Amino acid sequence: MGFWLNPVQAWVWRDPVRRGYRLLRFAEVEADGGRDLARAAELTPDPKLRRLYLRHAADEQRHAEMFRRRGSDLLRASAAAGAAAGWQPDWLAPGERGLDDVEVEEGRDAPLLAFLHLSEAAAARSFKTYHAAVRADPETRDVFARILKDENFHMSYTRHELGRVAPKKQGWLLWKARLGRLWKGYLRFAVALGSLMGGVLLTLQYFILLPVFALGAKRAAKREPEGWAAARDRRDLKGQY
Ligand SMILES: [Fe+2]
Ligand SMILES: [Fe+2]
Repeated sequence: MGFWLNPVQAWVWRDPVRRGYRLLRFAEVEADGGRDLARAAELTPDPKLRRLYLRHAADEQRHAEMFRRRGSDLLRASAAAGAAAGWQPDWLAPGERGLDDVEVEEGRDAPLLAFLHLSEAAAARSFKTYHAAVRADPETRDVFARILKDENFHMSYTRHELGRVAPKKQGWLLWKARLGRLWKGYLRFAVALGSLMGGVLLTLQYFILLPVFALGAKRAAKREPEGWAAARDRRDLKGQY
């Protein structure tokens, strides 16, 4: 995450309610990633990778627990102080992004390691920025510092193991994983833009089209006689239907 984003991050993390909800969202992603890694450990035929995946899964589970506990503490303290929930900019402060859509398949350790390496590297960069952004909250800062150590380990073991299991294809696999992340990033951006545009168009329709219909209805109402009036077409009253 670029240096220029640091003031934005300081703003995102300033509000304790927003901070609490962000941490709870991170906890979900970490727990989800932990489950996928446990599944990868079940499927791999490589004993060393199985051991590493299991350790990685346990780390992600522990991260989920740490984020959940700190997020709940923040929200509880804010509720006691009567603070309200603010806007939640998911896209401005993503968690261990990528870990939420790990694709685990039998016999595909090398692509998985390339994907994990890039996700962990991105997570390590983001958490470093968040660690700096929560300077005023030492407890949350400590959570990020502890998790950051594990993310650095995940980043380095995945790179090392990728070189071991696919020495000749490692460069290509990393590029492929990079392109996949770029594509997913584009899709996330397109969905966010689509929902923003949808909101803008509906609001414009509401303010431009609705007054025209309201005016027509008002004019039609003026043409109607006031009070009780006998029906102009009496045929309607001659039969049951
Ligand atoms: Fe993690
Ligand atoms: Fe991780």
